[in-house]
This record gives sequence, structure tokens and C-alpha cells, in this order.
Amino acid sequence: METGFNKLPRHLAIIMDGNGRWAQRRSLPRVEGHRKGAEAVRRVVRACRKWGIKVLTLYAFSLENWQRPKEEVDALMDLLVEFLQSEKQEMVENGISLRVIGRPEDLPSHIQRILAETIEATSQNGKMILNLALSYSGRSEILRAFERYLKDARQKGVEPGGLTEEVFSSYLDTDGLPEPDLLIRTSGEQRISNFLLWQMAYTEIYFTETLWPDFTEEELAEAIKDYGRRERRFGRIPRQAASCGEV
Ligand code: IPE
Ligand code: IPE
Ligand code: MG
Repeated sequence: METGFNKLPRHLAIIMDGNGRWAQRRSLPRVEGHRKGAEAVRRVVRACRKWGIKVLTLYAFSLENWQRPKEEVDALMDLLVEFLQSEKQEMVENGISLRVIGRPEDLPSHIQRILAETIEATSQNGKMILNLALSYSGRSEILRAFERYLKDARQKGVEPGGLTEEVFSSYLDTDGLPEPDLLIRTSGEQRISNFLLWQMAYTEIYFTETLWPDFTEEELAEAIKDYGRRERRFGRIPRQAASCGEV
């Protein structure tokens, strides 16, 4: 596929939504939508790696998603295991390093083990970071960061008064990662759903009606091209914006 991107997001984040509706429209159980959704995940990871995107963050399971029916949660957990098992080798071979944000400690212990093994096996890889948001909530991440910061400040005997954005960011789960340049949300919903609240202060957003299982490499390319046409101003006027914060 001829892509011809004039600008690539360094960090792409995706809210992969619409699996349930994809299944519903076909009178299939919701879990079938999640299964198809996992195929879309594989497609998107491969395309991002091929095009040279450095960080891909996927919203795979929110803290709020625990409230779904148990069968659905169990099916999502099984699919996560399948994904990790089937992709581990490919991640190793393709220089992809796995990372997790959220509360992986909420996941069943066998999944925590597989996650830890995969993170360890891919930790030296430097081509791309695949960052999975699991049991993730932006507000909870901010609270956890703040608690950790306070604990540190107390231990070091530092007055918490001079906290900067930079220091605070280093307590977030995304420490060391650039902020997302582009967020894609599929399925027509136009909301953030508690994703990367702090980090998305200046992220460009691309909404599409496409349901996640139908999301293709072509549409991903379309979203990236759209991003390439945007002017990011970060609060400044166009003439100034040309030289600030862009990659
Ligand atoms: C996204 O699809 C997958 C997860 C939230 C885990 P949904 O399951 O939310 O699909 P819809 O929104 O019900 O169609
Ligand atoms: C957001 O989708 C979470 C994930 C994609 C994992 P939801 O389907 O859970 O979000 P809402 O409930 O429509 O806001
Ligand atoms: Mg949804």
C-alpha cells in the first residue's frame, strides 16, 4: 500500500470501540465481536510497526469494564491471553516492546504472569512500544500518581508545594512516553471514556463511525493522513505554531 504520510504521529492511541455492536448487527454473541476485534488489533499493530510509529497505546479494558457481565469479562480475559501467547514471538522478532498502563494487579494472576513474562521477553526491543491499557482509568491513574508523589515527598522530606507538570508526569503510568499525538476512536462515539485524561491535553482526535472489528489498515492510513493535514497550535497563533511541539 502506498501511504505517503507527510507526518507520522510519534504516539498513536486508540479507543477500540464497537465490538458489541458489530456482533449484535450479525445476531452473534458479543464475544464474537471481541474475537473479530482481536484480529483488528493484530492488523493495526503490524501496520504501525511497518510505518514506524514509535508508541501505540490501545485501550483494551477499562476499570469500568469490570462492571460488564461476568461471561463477557471472562471472554475478554481469555482473548487477552490468546493475544499475548500468539503475538509474543512476533513481538520479539519485530522489535516490539510490551508495556502496560492501568492496574494489571486487578487481572487474574495467570494473566499477570503472562504479561510479566512478555514484558520481560520484549524489554530490550526498541522499534516500537505496544502499550496496553488494562483495567485502566485516567482518573484512577492521576490519583495513584498523586499518592505516589506525596509518599515520595514525605520520605524525602520535600515540601509538596513546588510540583511541576513535568515531575507529576513522571509519576503517571506513562512515565517516559511522549504524549499521544493522535487519538482514534471507532464506532461513532465521541467521548474520551476516562482514557489518558492528563496526557491528552493537546492530542488531535479522529472519530470514525467504523466499528472496531471492521477497522482496516487503509482506514488507519486515512486517519494518519488526516492527522498530517492538521495544524497543531498548542495555544499559539499559526505563525508561532509552525515551530513548536511538532514532530
Ligand atoms: C470495545 O467494544 C471493547 C471493550 C470495551 C473491551 P465494546 O464491547 O464496547 O462494543 P460496543 O460499544 O458495545 O459496541
Ligand atoms: C471504552 O469503551 C473502553 C475500551 C475501549 C476498552 P467503552 O465501550 O467501555 O466506553 P463507553 O462505556 O461507551 O463510554
Ligand atoms: Mg463500547
